[in-house]
Formats: sequence, C-alpha cells, structure tokens
Amino acid sequence: MSFTLRALTPADAPAAAALHAAAFPDPWSAAVFASWFADPAAVTLARFEGGDLVTFVLLNAVLGEADILTLATHPARRNEGLARDLLAALIETLTTRGVHRLTLDVAEDNLPARRLYARLGFTLDGRRKGYYAAGRAQPVDALLMSCSLAL
Ligand SMILES: CC(C)(COP(=O)(O)OP(=O)(O)OC[C@H]1O[C@@H](n2cnc3c(N)ncnc32)[C@H](O)[C@@H]1OP(=O)(O)O)[C@@H](O)C(=O)NCCC(=O)NCCS
Repeated sequence: MSFTLRALTPADAPAAAALHAAAFPDPWSAAVFASWFADPAAVTLARFEGGDLVTFVLLNAVLGEADILTLATHPARRNEGLARDLLAALIETLTTRGVHRLTLDVAEDNLPARRLYARLGFTLDGRRKGYYAAGRAQPVDALLMSCSLAL
C-alpha cells in the first residue's frame, strides 16, 4: 500500500478528531485539533493511505523538549508497526530540530502504548494518581515517561 508521511494542517482537523474519537474515551473536538495544528509549538506527523488518515502523533515542543500530547492508530490498523514507524520517523526530524528529550504520560492500563514506548526506549519518571478519569468507571494513574534523543 502506498502511503504519505506528512505534517498535519488545520484542514486535517476533522480527520484527526474522527480518528481520536475512535481511539479514546474522551475525544478532542476538531476545533481543538485545528488550533493545535496552527500552533507554531506543535509538531505533528501523520500517515495517509489513499487519502485516509491511519495514524498520527501531536507533540508540543518547547526549548529542546517535546511532549507527546496524543497518538492514535486507526482501530482496524493496530499492531502492524504503524505507530512504531511513525515515531521512529518523527524522532529523526526532532533531532535535526534540536529536540533532545521526549516526554509523555500514558494510562497505566494502556498496555499496547506502554509496550510501544518501552520498545522505543522510554523509561518511567513517576506517576499521577487517578489522572485519567473521564469516560472510565474507575480513575487510572498516569505514568510519566521520557526518552533522551541522541543528537
Ligand atoms: C497505542 C497505539 C497508538 C499503538 O499503535 P499501533 O500502530 O497499533 O502500534 P504498533 O503496531 O506500531 O506497535 C508497536 C509496539 O506496541 C506493541 N503493541 C501494539 N499493539 C499491541 C497490542 N494490541 N497488544 C500488545 N502490544 C501491542 C507491540 O509491542 C509493538 O511492538 P512489536 O510488534 O515490535 O512487539 C494504538 O494501540 C492506539 O491508537 N491506541 C489507542 C490510543 C492510545 O492509547 N494512544 C496512546 C496514548 S499514550
């Protein structure tokens, strides 16, 4: 399947919101994505196949560090290595922009994401008790993770 990797623009906000809604219990609106995609501090990378968005990541980059705000792969395309490949491509572009550290938080019960981040070299820095509550029967802790990038 041929594909395109590119950054997202405000025109992609409806597609990003639709994919986010299929991936998270507390979806973000298209307006929120449009605002982020217009923000100079935002870094995005997305994979499109035949015009369809299949996976994307959004980061907030400040002073040499970038925080992963959200990452999602279409439910029908999970566990094919798409997020791993996307993040590997992203990391290459980040190091050329002088970003030396990536941070994120992930729900403790999100085993696919935790495994993905562990494979990429993220390590645990701490936790926020009960941080994820929206759309859940029981609050779940956030694990705070980071990864140093080789410049
Ligand atoms: C987390 C998520 C983005 C991973 O996307 P993906 O494209 O399926 O991930 P990949 O196929 O690249 O998988 C990379 C690694 O994650 C692990 N993984 C992915 N899906 C998994 C699953 N269902 N069960 C166990 N491990 C899984 C694997 O270890 C894989 O590496 P390996 O095949 O080399 O062992 C995807 O599951 C998703 O969109 N989830 C909902 C949204 C979300 O949780 N986002 C992250 C918030 S922090």
